[in-house]
Amino acid sequence: MSESSARPTKPLRAAVVGSGAIAREHLSFLAGTSPIRPSSPVDGRLRLVGVCDLSPVTARYGADEYGADAAYTDLATMLDGAGPDVVHVLTPPATHSPIASACLRAGAHVLCEKPITTTSVELLELLDVAKEAGRHLMESQNYRFNRPVLALVDAIDRGELGTVREVEIRIALPVTDPDGRFADRNLPSPIHEMPAGVIHDVITHMVYLLLLLGRPVSFDRIAAAWSNHGDDPLFRWDDLDAVLIGRTAGGPLHARLRFDAEASPDTFSIRVRGTDGWAETDLFQPYVRVVRPRAGGQQLSPILNHLAGGWRLLQAGTRNVGSKIMQQTPYEGLHRMLDLTYDAIAADRPLPVSTDDMVETSRLIDRLLDEKVRL
Ligand SMILES: NC(=O)c1ccc[n+]([C@@H]2O[C@H](COP(=O)([O-])OP(=O)(O)OC[C@H]3O[C@@H](n4cnc5c(N)ncnc54)[C@H](O)[C@@H]3O)[C@@H](O)[C@H]2O)c1
Repeated sequence: MSESSARPTKPLRAAVVGSGAIAREHLSFLAGTSPIRPSSPVDGRLRLVGVCDLSPVTARYGADEYGADAAYTDLATMLDGAGPDVVHVLTPPATHSPIASACLRAGAHVLCEKPITTTSVELLELLDVAKEAGRHLMESQNYRFNRPVLALVDAIDRGELGTVREVEIRIALPVTDPDGRFADRNLPSPIHEMPAGVIHDVITHMVYLLLLLGRPVSFDRIAAAWSNHGDDPLFRWDDLDAVLIGRTAGGPLHARLRFDAEASPDTFSIRVRGTDGWAETDLFQPYVRVVRPRAGGQQLSPILNHLAGGWRLLQAGTRNVGSKIMQQTPYEGLHRMLDLTYDAIAADRPLPVSTDDMVETSRLIDRLLDEKVRL
């Protein structure tokens, strides 16, 4: 980074553009009401200087509710008037590039919601803008920072599972539900215009988690079945079944990415299989189960794994009741990611999601969409 981004002596001035659903999570962090390190803004690191939305009511609500200095309906006016050091870009995906470019050119670092751009080519162009401006550009890859994912990474890093051979990520969400926001015909969701249609809403999460858990991996064989099982013409696809076969330093790696609009209940499950054991979680109903050889050998290991797994499930069940009562969402990782990001910006350290993480993710999404790999 350039000299101008050296350790700041005063609080970073943060602003938000797009004050819809995900903005609530960013704004609660910026307002200091986050469950992760709730005192963050009052410990002097940052100040919320503006909330911008095309809708004046939405902008005003976001600014009032989260204590911003001002509300704006025009981005240029906010960049000029509020002079933010960091802008959170939380608008629909197709608008990210022009908005992020304007913020970078105005001298602000940009934290952008996923998918950061529509294609990897567009991402490389945006990274050039960031480089030219000497500012950070980071995509929100929030689920990497959820507690269960950190636990899986830790199990892999400590060699508990041996060498990772398989990663399976499965999301089930009723995106075609006629009462849901994606099926609204009067106000069609902008996600339908993305290359993967409604599946673009989740594919970034699946791909960056795969790259994190299987790292470092290069895939040489990919086959992706994109289907529209509901036959609703509003949806390009409502189902994905992709198989990826690649190589890590430790040997071959098989991966499967599965999205389903009809299976129930909602799931965001991850399973990692290694040469010595396996581990799984569900980020919507968090728990972590690790199955591995235990003291007691082949005879006793299955029983000990059942007992350990049962105990972990019981603990997770109790914890999840508490989370429900406290209305905690699966976005705890987003708050942790923002916390790390602001610390890194303030200390002029590398950000927790690197440029390589973003480019690799975006390139793999492009490859999954390539007609040549379609089943
Ligand atoms: N990281 C996650 O887990 C996660 C979860 C949900 C959404 N998202 C992402 O966040 C982004 C926003 O999603 P959402 O669900 O909050 O959408 P949303 O429709 O609820 O909110 C978007 C807001 O942006 C405003 N807007 C649109 N264009 C604008 C512009 N040019 N200038 C200013 N404001 C503008 C809209 O008025 C709206 O209030 C998307 O990229 C989405 O994929 C990420």
